[in-house]
Amino acid sequence: MISDRMADLLNRQMNREFFNSHLYLSMATYFYDINLDGFAHWMEKQAEEETEHAMRLYAQLQERGARIKVGCVEAPPLEWSSPLAAFEDAYAHECKVSGEFDELVEEALALKDYATLNFLQWFLEEQVEEEASVDEVVQKLKMAGNSPGALLMLDKKYGARED
Ligand code: FEO
Repeated sequence: MISDRMADLLNRQMNREFFNSHLYLSMATYFYDINLDGFAHWMEKQAEEETEHAMRLYAQLQERGARIKVGCVEAPPLEWSSPLAAFEDAYAHECKVSGEFDELVEEALALKDYATLNFLQWFLEEQVEEEASVDEVVQKLKMAGNSPGALLMLDKKYGARED
């Protein structure tokens, strides 16, 4: 049986992951709005992954016999000043999420909740990948600078994202 404290923390993280999904969906709409459909597709895939993260937490809470508490999701921003600004925001956000999982690990250790500690390992690895994949786009957008041709090439490349 999971402790009330840990169940509350996992519920909070589940709702944060639903927000993350909305954030990337909002970024997708920004990219559609500026006619970069490839980046919009990339963001939609990212939003799907975030929903999967939330559902992993949901399933864990269910399996551990905790009450699942689906809450409100705050509205994400709608606009960014440039494609680079959107991806820089995404990168900063992923670093913040990594910190959230680090805190969950510390709590699980403090509570001697080794089952949750084991469950959280997957997220620690996932966050390393998430930070790297977003940073890759940031670096490429910086290289593209003000070149519309380079931006369109990147839009095509990232529009091919499959998972
Ligand atoms: Fe689920 Fe990208 O953090």
